[in-house]
Amino acid sequence: MDSQPELAPRSADTGDISPEEFRRFGHEVVEWIAEYMAGVGELPVLAPVRPGEVAARLPASPPGEPEGFDEILRDFRDIIVPGTTHWNHPSFFAYFAITGAGPGILGEMLAAALNNNAMLWRTGPAQTELEERTLDWLRQLVGLPEGFRGTIQDTASISTLVAVAAAREAAGLGVREEGMSGLPRLRLYCSEETHSSIEKAGITLGIGRTGTRKIPTDAEFRMDPAALAGAIAEDRAAGIVPFCVVATVGTTSTSSIDPVPAIADICEREGLWLHVDAAYGGSAAVVPELRGVLDGAARADSIVINPHKWLFVPIDCSTLYLRRPEVVRRAFSLTPEYLVTPEGESVTNLMDYGPALGKRFRALKLWMTLRRFGAEGMAARVREHVRLARLFAGWVDGEPGWERMAPVPMSLVVFRHRPAGLGDADTDAHNERLMAAVNATGETLLSHTRLHGRTALRLAVGNLRTTEEHVAHAWELLRRAATES
Ligand SMILES: Cc1ncc(COP(=O)(O)O)c(C=O)c1O
Repeated sequence: MDSQPELAPRSADTGDISPEEFRRFGHEVVEWIAEYMAGVGELPVLAPVRPGEVAARLPASPPGEPEGFDEILRDFRDIIVPGTTHWNHPSFFAYFAITGAGPGILGEMLAAALNNNAMLWRTGPAQTELEERTLDWLRQLVGLPEGFRGTIQDTASISTLVAVAAAREAAGLGVREEGMSGLPRLRLYCSEETHSSIEKAGITLGIGRTGTRKIPTDAEFRMDPAALAGAIAEDRAAGIVPFCVVATVGTTSTSSIDPVPAIADICEREGLWLHVDAAYGGSAAVVPELRGVLDGAARADSIVINPHKWLFVPIDCSTLYLRRPEVVRRAFSLTPEYLVTPEGESVTNLMDYGPALGKRFRALKLWMTLRRFGAEGMAARVREHVRLARLFAGWVDGEPGWERMAPVPMSLVVFRHRPAGLGDADTDAHNERLMAAVNATGETLLSHTRLHGRTALRLAVGNLRTTEEHVAHAWELLRRAATES
C-alpha cells in the first residue's frame, strides 16, 4: 500500500467558543442588555471622555494567545460602555433621536448567527423573499402605492447614492460603459437645506460639488419650486444637462417638508428623475393623520426612508423604494461567471441593487420590529413623539426671552434663547455656551444648527423611552443654564 501523506493531528478545537460557553456567555450578554435597556437613562448621555482616552486603555497590539470571554466582557463593561454616547438614552435629543428596540436587537443576534450573505437568491432565499415582503409591508404602512419595490441599504447616504446613480443611468448618457469623460456638465438639484449626503453622492458619482446646485428655500426652509424651474432653464440655456432633483421630507436642520407635488410637476415636465429623501420624515407617515407628509412622493422615481431613524430598528437599516427597479439594475448589475445561477432572471438577486455584492440580513430586524409593534403600536409611538415635541415647542413659545426658529411639522423643535440687548453674534455665542453647559450635565443631549446664518438649538424626540418628564427636564436645564450662561 502507498504510504499516505502525514496529516496534522485532528482536533475538535475549532477556535470558536464551545456551545456550552456560548450558552453561558450568551445568557450573560442578554442579561447585560436587559439591564442596560432598563437603566440606560441613569447613565451620562454624552460620553464623559476626552479624545484618546479610550484608545489609551486599549493594548496597542493584538493578543497572541486566546483570551477568556470573562475578560473580554469585563473590558466591554469597563472601557467601552463608559466611552459610549448613549443613543438609546431617553434624554438623547440631538441630531435625530433613535431607538434600537428589543425586537431588532434580537434580530441582529439571529442574523449574525445565520451569517447569511444574500447576494444571490440561492445564497439566501428566505433572506431575499423576507426583504421583499417586509419592504412591501412598510410601503403599505407609509401609504405608498403598489408598484414601488424596496431594497435595504445600510444608510440613507448609500440609498441616495444608488438613486442618483440610477438617475444618471436613466438619462441615457452611456456612463456605465463610457464613463463621464467627454460628457457635458451634468446637474443635480437639491435645496440649501438638503442633507450633505446628496452632495456626497454628487462627489462620488463624478457630478462634483459645482454640479450639485442648491436651490434657495422659503421662510420655512422649503425648496422654492419657482427657483428650481428657473435654475433648470438657466442651466439648459448654458448647455448643462439637468438629470435629477432631490426633494426632502424632513430636512436635517428643521424637519421642513419640500413641496414635493410642485417639484414632481417640474420633474415630469423636464423629464428629470425625482428622488425623495424622507430618511427621517418618511416614518411619520405610519401615523394615519400624518400621512400627508409624503404627499406627492408617489410620483417620485425613488424614495429613501430610514427605519433606523424613527421606526425603532437598530442602526443600520435604510430602505430605498424604486418605481423602476430595472433602472437600478441597469446601472449596477454585473454578473461574473462564478455568480451565474440556474434561476437566472426568474428571481431577485439582491446584489443587482447597488454597488455592494455582499448582503447582510437586515430585513430580519425590521420584520421582527414591525411584527412586535404592529401598525398601531408603531403609529402610537411616533404620534407620542410628535406630541412631546409640540409640548416643548409650546413651552418655548410661552416663555419670554426664548424663540422658536422653525415650525414643528414632526418631532423636532428648533429654537434659541434671545436675551434682551444682545446682538446677533453675542446671541450665537450665548446659545453655544448654553448648549455646552446643558450637554456637560450628562443629563440631556441637544445639538445645534445654523439658520439664516444664526445659531439655533435642536431638540429631537425619537426614543421610545422618552417621556414628558425627560422633555421637561431638558427644558428645566435649558432655563437654568440660560440664567447662568
Ligand atoms: C434628511 C437626511 N437625509 C439623510 C441623512 C443621512 O442618513 P444616514 O446616516 O442613514 O446616511 C440624514 C441624517 O441625519 C438626514 O437627516
